[in-house]
Amino acid sequence: MLLIHPVLQLLATLAALYALWLGWSRFRSLHLGAAVRFQRPRHILAGKAALILLLLGLASGLVTVRLAMGGWLVSETHGPVGLACLPLILLGLASGLYLQRRPAPRRLLPLAHGLNNLVLLGLALWQAFTGLGWLRGVTGW
Ligand code: HEM
Ligand code: HEM
Repeated sequence: MLLIHPVLQLLATLAALYALWLGWSRFRSLHLGAAVRFQRPRHILAGKAALILLLLGLASGLVTVRLAMGGWLVSETHGPVGLACLPLILLGLASGLYLQRRPAPRRLLPLAHGLNNLVLLGLALWQAFTGLGWLRGVTGW
């Protein structure tokens, strides 16, 4: 049971890295004037997979810790930083869905969307670092 959350979050982080890789071409064409193709449907699919997995993973982390360790937010920083990801996940999803459903020539909203998700990915990578250390402690690897 302790492994469900780390596995979900590792998959989420990989999907987010892929979404960022695809979004990078959009950044180059929108802001750097490069003539590169943006694989929009694939970006949307990878982005949704990443953010939905992050949401499920966040909930599973909280619930597993409650069940296995008998309390909410018992970790020093991993839990609070994980909770701080929640607004970023929701903003990333809301802005992404808006950009998907109302396509129009814009620069500012895609940039804010990209920056929000970049910060989120940075936090997810930090969580992988602190989370793997914790997992090692809990499972005695
Ligand atoms: C971790 C997940 C995600 C990352 C890292 C990410 C990253 C990015 C980046 C860097 C851009 C280029 C922005 C710019 O340079 O101005 C972009 C654009 C875009 N993203 Fe995402 N994104 C994610 C999730 C999503 C989701 C879930 C959706 C849809 C539901 C989505 C839809 C879009 C669309 C439609 C654009 C193009 C906007 C336009 O052409 O005006 N993204 N994203
Ligand atoms: C791949 C990276 C990650 C690893 C290896 C990891 C590892 C862990 C471990 C071992 C636990 C203890 C419970 C369990 O094993 O199910 C945990 C709890 C938790 N994780 Fe992660 N995690 C990762 C990423 C994330 C991310 C990205 C978030 C937030 C979006 C997050 C949020 C949480 C929360 C909120 C808890 C509950 C902590 C508490 O109640 O004190 N984790 N994590």
